[in-house]
Amino acid sequence: MNLAGKRILLGITGGIAAYKCPDLIRQLKKKGADVRVVMTESATHFVTPMTLQAVSAHHVVNDLFDPTAELSMSHIELAKWADLVLIAPATANIIAKLACGLADDLLSTLCLATPEPIAIAPAMNQQMYKAKVTQQNLARLAERNVLIWGPDKGFQACGDIGPGRMVEPATLAVNIEDYFTTSNALAGMTITVTAGPTIEELDPVRYISNYSSGKMGFAIANAAAEMGAKVVLIAGPVHLDTPANVERINVKTAQEMYNAAIQQAQQSTIFIACAAVADYRAATIAKQKIKKQDNNNEIVITLVKNPDIVASVASLKKDRPFVVGFAAESHNIEAYALKKLITKNLDLICANDISNQQIGFNADQNALTLYWQHSITANEKKSEQETLPLCNKQILAKQLIKKIIQRYKASQNEKKN
Ligand code: PMT
Repeated sequence: MNLAGKRILLGITGGIAAYKCPDLIRQLKKKGADVRVVMTESATHFVTPMTLQAVSAHHVVNDLFDPTAELSMSHIELAKWADLVLIAPATANIIAKLACGLADDLLSTLCLATPEPIAIAPAMNQQMYKAKVTQQNLARLAERNVLIWGPDKGFQACGDIGPGRMVEPATLAVNIEDYFTTSNALAGMTITVTAGPTIEELDPVRYISNYSSGKMGFAIANAAAEMGAKVVLIAGPVHLDTPANVERINVKTAQEMYNAAIQQAQQSTIFIACAAVADYRAATIAKQKIKKQDNNNEIVITLVKNPDIVASVASLKKDRPFVVGFAAESHNIEAYALKKLITKNLDLICANDISNQQIGFNADQNALTLYWQHSITANEKKSEQETLPLCNKQILAKQLIKKIIQRYKASQNEKKN
């Protein structure tokens, strides 16, 4: 009865998978949840309100202007009643409406009015799912922390094969359980994250930097805060809003990032270095603009090494946190990632293959291969590796945080034994 006392508002939209909703309600109720149903007009063509009322044991509503429904519980009260809103199946249409903030029927209005988390289980024809606009809408929802569960791939009712099948009711019920168990799973932990690029000035108008947007690091900070951690985000110069419940420290240079990181590290349970830090800075910053030299085709700017932030944190003798680094590599990914894992003495390195233009720097999506220190073989050439496949950075960040926590807890237990 892991969902005992939890109140789930199930929104059903007009897709063939709606016929699975009575089973979904049954599974949620079996786990102890109280389920109320809101349907769109189209959904009533796939499953009857009477069936849903019988399994949920509540009156089913689908009309924003139903005076009897408003008398028993107004739509605003209903929006406040829920601990979680799940839309399953979620059609391309409701996804587009939510992405735009439309409120033209009861379900979309409830979604705008609820302060509680919203999860969606997309279900539609595979081509509609792959359509650029649907993908953009899903990315916008993920950015706003809407939980996106699925879709599954396979045979579709229309005869097509591909992604677009609603995730099975049993899996959705487990996802909801997982959500409630992980939503406070990191309470009591402090997680420090570095994100974005650094800027190293050459003169008053020029600098050395890179294309890091900060999106990956901000998504990690957001995921950790959502799971209840105290999160400190040390951010290079980026144009991103600070995620909710995250303390942000803005820095510009690698040296500033180093100073902030060293201050935070010993109070942190976990330190995640996602920033793309400039390895070098100018030995001297010209006070005035460096002028073009008419008689010289070359100029020489001497660069000096910046401190290695993550390696310094990992070498702390006292109160060393669990340390995670990132490696953006375009070739020999495993070899370079392992080299960084070992030389910087990290617990985990997350490699992104930036030869794929769709991922890594300044992209909305990413894919990661994780190499763990604890599983490096004796000859130090191989480590256990896990892949987190291509998906939106917000979703990927949540998967990554769960992996880190699992390993962190295992390492704590190993220390005790
Ligand atoms: O910001 P986005 O646009 O979302 O892009 C995300 C990202 C691609 C920048 C991110 O996923 C990533 O891979 N960051 C690490 C980039 C990199 O290759 O770093 P590196 O190889 O220079 O450094 C390896 C590790 O050491 C990193 O954890 C880095 O933060 C850390 N480092 C590096 C140099 C330095 N002086 N101090 C450090 O802490």
